[in-house]
Amino acid sequence: MKIEDIHKVSVLGAGIMGHGIAQSFLMAGYPVSLYDIKDSVLDTARSHIEKNLRLFSEFDLIKEGEIGTCLHRLTTTTDLESCAGPGDFILEAAPEDLQLKQRLFEEVTSLCTKDAIVASNTSSLRLTDIGVLVKEKGRLVTTHWFNPPHIVPTVEVVRARWTSKETFETAYSLLLKIRKVPVRIKEEVPGFLVNRVQMAMAREILNLYERGVADAEDIDRAVRGSIGFRLASIGPLMTMDLGGLKLWLNVCKNLFPLINSSTEPPRALERLTSQGNDGIKSGKGFYDYTRDFSQEELDRAVRERDREFLNRLKNLYLK
Ligand SMILES: NC(=O)c1ccc[n+]([C@@H]2O[C@H](COP(=O)([O-])OP(=O)(O)OC[C@H]3O[C@@H](n4cnc5c(N)ncnc54)[C@H](O)[C@@H]3O)[C@@H](O)[C@H]2O)c1
Repeated sequence: MKIEDIHKVSVLGAGIMGHGIAQSFLMAGYPVSLYDIKDSVLDTARSHIEKNLRLFSEFDLIKEGEIGTCLHRLTTTTDLESCAGPGDFILEAAPEDLQLKQRLFEEVTSLCTKDAIVASNTSSLRLTDIGVLVKEKGRLVTTHWFNPPHIVPTVEVVRARWTSKETFETAYSLLLKIRKVPVRIKEEVPGFLVNRVQMAMAREILNLYERGVADAEDIDRAVRGSIGFRLASIGPLMTMDLGGLKLWLNVCKNLFPLINSSTEPPRALERLTSQGNDGIKSGKGFYDYTRDFSQEELDRAVRERDREFLNRLKNLYLK
């Protein structure tokens, strides 16, 4: 299927990811049918979308008058056939369970037209496994969004062994059209690209924390104010070019043998979780949310983070 043949979008699963993904397509003018197995989830999804559209309009990312038009383009249903049947681009954001996704892909591809593209938002499964029961496999692709999906620009478009070139390129162009920042991942490597990078960083950060080299607060401040500050504007490879590749080679030679390369689960996380600490959910993680922050401070921090994200997004849109 080519991008000009895509008129209707179907999103399967209206949880954390599904409703945000639906919003991105709605804002770009596509009618979206949102499916879930629970009516209550669909009601919550619609009200989250409305609230988030209002926030976008507050930041001039959409006009106030467009809120109603976007909501008008949204239909919700618990009937899979009426959602997937007319869909040209069908995106699955159901729970991360291989058998559930396999059955869903089999059923959906029997309900939709044979040309419709069917995409998965899986974080850790392989489309090669998800799509085993599907007959026309060339139309399957992974599009991996990041939470919150209506805000974070990047979407990894991952080509499985059998994804056709046309499907891969159409998915890429569609995401570009709806103002996301798609990236082509040409091989279905576990964790795709971004999560592998994130995990490599997590390994060293957790190692430094566990060794007591720096406190949690200093680790967070150090990364935010240096590589974090830089990376939103200049990617890691261009950073190397700007610093000089010979220098980077020498630093790699000196430090690679000394940084953590363990394949064991991080001790810091094992220790904290075994003590009943689950971060914000339990009130304590690297920080003590019951002692160091009032609920008001925390709410304000999250609101400020979202505003910062939206300002950054606005800059990106203006470009
Ligand atoms: N949460 C994240 O940060 C994140 C980020 C990237 C990718 N993902 C991936 O996105 C997918 C969805 O994750 P989520 O966090 O939105 O999960 P979620 O649990 O918030 O939402 C999943 C939704 O799917 C619904 N559901 C259950 N069975 C279904 C079925 N058979 N068909 C359709 N819907 C069904 C549930 O009712 C629920 O509303 C997963 O594959 C996950 O790995 C999640």
